Amino acid sequence: MEKSINLVPPLKWVGGKRKIIEIIISAANEIETPFTYYEPFFGGGAIFFSLYSRGLLKNAYLNDVVPQVVNFYNVLSEQNARNILKKEAKKFERKFNNLNKDVTKRKNEYIKFREDFNDNWESFNSKLNFESRAKLGAQFLALNKIGFNGMFRVNSKGRFNIPMGSPVKKRLFDEDNLDEVGDALSKVSFTCDDYSNVKPFKGNVNKNNLIFLDPPYIPNSQTAYFTDYSVEGFNKDSHIKLSNDFSKLIENNNNNVIFTNNFNKISLDLFVDKNKKNKRLNAYKFNITKTISAKNSGRGNTEELLISTFPIQHERLEKI
Ligand SMILES: C[S@@+](CC[C@H](N)C(=O)[O-])C[C@H]1O[C@@H](n2cnc3c(N)ncnc32)[C@H](O)[C@@H]1O
Repeated sequence: MEKSINLVPPLKWVGGKRKIIEIIISAANEIETPFTYYEPFFGGGAIFFSLYSRGLLKNAYLNDVVPQVVNFYNVLSEQNARNILKKEAKKFERKFNNLNKDVTKRKNEYIKFREDFNDNWESFNSKLNFESRAKLGAQFLALNKIGFNGMFRVNSKGRFNIPMGSPVKKRLFDEDNLDEVGDALSKVSFTCDDYSNVKPFKGNVNKNNLIFLDPPYIPNSQTAYFTDYSVEGFNKDSHIKLSNDFSKLIENNNNNVIFTNNFNKISLDLFVDKNKKNKRLNAYKFNITKTISAKNSGRGNTEELLISTFPIQHERLEKI
């Protein structure tokens, strides 16, 4: 894949990995380039966009379980659909920026807008024409930027239910960046499935690879549990299953794997201690500032865990 400009993730995403890009770049320097990249928990894709921008990827297999997100990226990857998305998103940008002085009206409009998106989404299927998919993509982008903190959460019926964010002037996208992002996405495989049904967990993995695993967080406390990306959620049992799948993945000596999560007792038990016998395992601790929940806007310095199947040199990493 050719080297591009410096791509910026088009969405704001909870658990986004912008703050550890430099660490993953150091890791990528340990691997023969270009490599095949696998990211089954894609979200905002901060790491993919950064590796792609540096021309390090031969090809990429990306996946996320949230269909609204995957539709957005698919729309970006098709030029005709992307052009419609940009036009629609500009309209939404103007509409909400013009309402900034009347917060009550803005809030009412936001709720109407969100419900319209949810109603349209209920009739979504992949055979929908590209204009309708593009409009849904534009509504999704607007909700991501105008909703609270870029959070994505659905209720038991699969309806997006994040409240409005602060009424300040917003720019929904940068046109050149969106075009470059769309061009990058048109060259990769993007699926929408449970991680266990896609590469690298199912099917053959190319030899020279980097597999980046950034699943939903294992909470440090029950109140911080953020599992609502999808109707199914990602609970403790899901993490136990993932830890078994992870153990199998790292047994294959050809796989270059990086896993990140919160640093706590459960993550250490499930992902580090369980794989103690595997000589390829390297475990590190590092600090990060992040936002976790809508209720208390919990922002703070927390410790994270990074596991890799090869040693990584970086000043922020403390070997454990
Ligand atoms: C911590 S976020 C990844 C953030 C990403 N690395 C970034 O920089 O934005 C975890 C992602 O896993 C997705 N996810 C949750 N359950 C999943 C599942 N069962 N299979 C695949 N993806 C899942 C969520 O939708 C979310 O986007």
